[in-house]
Amino acid sequence: MSGDSSGRSVGRIMKKLETAGRQTPSLVSDQATPLRADENARLTALFWGDAHASFLLPSRSAACLAAAKDVAAAESVFDALLLAGDVTENGEPSEYRFMGDCWDLMRDRVKHYIPATGNHDVRIRPIGVTARRFGGFCERVGAPAQKGRLYYAQTVNGYRIIVLGTTRGTFEEAAIDDAQLEFFSRELNAAGEGPVFVLLHQSLKNTHGLPEIFGKPSVSDGDVGAQSDTLREMMNARKNVFLLTGHIHTAFCALSYAKIGNIHSVNVPSLGTVAKNGDYNEPGTGYIIEVFDDRVRFRARDHIRRIDLEQFDFEIALE
Ligand SMILES: [Fe+2]
Repeated sequence: MSGDSSGRSVGRIMKKLETAGRQTPSLVSDQATPLRADENARLTALFWGDAHASFLLPSRSAACLAAAKDVAAAESVFDALLLAGDVTENGEPSEYRFMGDCWDLMRDRVKHYIPATGNHDVRIRPIGVTARRFGGFCERVGAPAQKGRLYYAQTVNGYRIIVLGTTRGTFEEAAIDDAQLEFFSRELNAAGEGPVFVLLHQSLKNTHGLPEIFGKPSVSDGDVGAQSDTLREMMNARKNVFLLTGHIHTAFCALSYAKIGNIHSVNVPSLGTVAKNGDYNEPGTGYIIEVFDDRVRFRARDHIRRIDLEQFDFEIALE
């Protein structure tokens, strides 16, 4: 799509969202509570995945906008917002602009926005175009992505957050090249003993119900792809690595957390779409991460209804 038609689509999507907004206020629950984080935590972060901002599928953008409004009304200020890829449905400039507009609503309540790319952000176009568009988005939201690359790292409150992303155009999986593996190795080694967070769109193979749960065996197994074993080995050599993924769109359920050797792998439902195969298949869901000296807590939230979902909360003890 050309820049001009993308520009026109912004107006179109905002019009559709206004209509959707008028239709959805009843989705905020009678039981709604303000979004908040434990003030004693050393690090607090919102963890979302698969926003899929789209001008063709406005319900997805409406879910993102509702979530942003929940954050804007939060009682707490969060240290970070981690988005595990599929920021957009089709990697279009207008979709990034929309997500940037959502970020503007949240700026006062979140200190650092740390997005990763997913397959929807990268597919169907040269990787250089994706890197330029994603780079522009990162610049707008203040993420320290490096020019031309989809991987970078940031320290927040002393905790290293490492973002990985494909190094060439792919349709479903990621391709992690040697330069990125070297970057990852350096980052893991430098991260010290404390918890380190790795943000990657796709999970490791044979985890979180894969490959069966993905349901598209002819296209992909739904995992990160050829470098899965290498990534697993690198992370497994350390303690207290938290791998944060999306892509599968599985709702909150027993499959959301997986202990893979030493690795704590957490798969978040889709923010923008209806989730599936889980116990709470609503859109607009994500985790609140609270890091303490001895543990990391994951709290589940429906940002559209503005309710905490305590039945899906869990805590991981640090070693
Ligand atoms: Fe995806």
